[in-house]
Amino acid sequence: MTLNVLQVGEAVLRRRAKPLAIEDILRPPIQQLIEHMRDTMREAPGVGLAAPQIGIPLQIAVIEDRADLLQEIDPKWLAETERGPVPFHAVINPSITLGEETVEFFEGCLSVARFGALVARARQVTVECWNERAEPVRIEASGWYARILQHEIDHLNGWLYVDRMRSRSFMTVENYGRYWKDVPMAEIRRVLGAEEGAK
Ligand code: CO
Repeated sequence: MTLNVLQVGEAVLRRRAKPLAIEDILRPPIQQLIEHMRDTMREAPGVGLAAPQIGIPLQIAVIEDRADLLQEIDPKWLAETERGPVPFHAVINPSITLGEETVEFFEGCLSVARFGALVARARQVTVECWNERAEPVRIEASGWYARILQHEIDHLNGWLYVDRMRSRSFMTVENYGRYWKDVPMAEIRRVLGAEEGAK
């Protein structure tokens, strides 16, 4: 079953989600919720979805970056963004530690539909959380997977990428594809950087 993804402006997207009781993870309502979140993420399609995005103020997110969909992306771009397959898993009650190095790429969100912008994110993160089998896990992630984790955990704290974006780079996905997709990142940063706008 797929659920309606709420758009920016809904208060639930701006509140800190409540931690889930660990003993509830394996209970049918939460297992069903995780399943519906997975279906909704796949249908979108997206690589992550947080419970507040479907109106549920709980600290649950699902993540999946499917190998079959990555095959349609230019391998050079996958290498530049350090993106590779991530099997489906849930992230419950996470705590995150950010590495010092940051990298900047275009990012979008199912709750800010049809837009994107440059967002600087830590290249590496460590996340401690529970998974959908109620197992405690420690995730060491880098590259695009680290970005997905930061984006989804932001959702659980009431943050959206627009709070962190380089605002002059905000654009429709359509115009990104039309004008910027093949422009080198250094050139994009030069043209859409704060320095240029100040002139
Ligand atoms: Co999002």
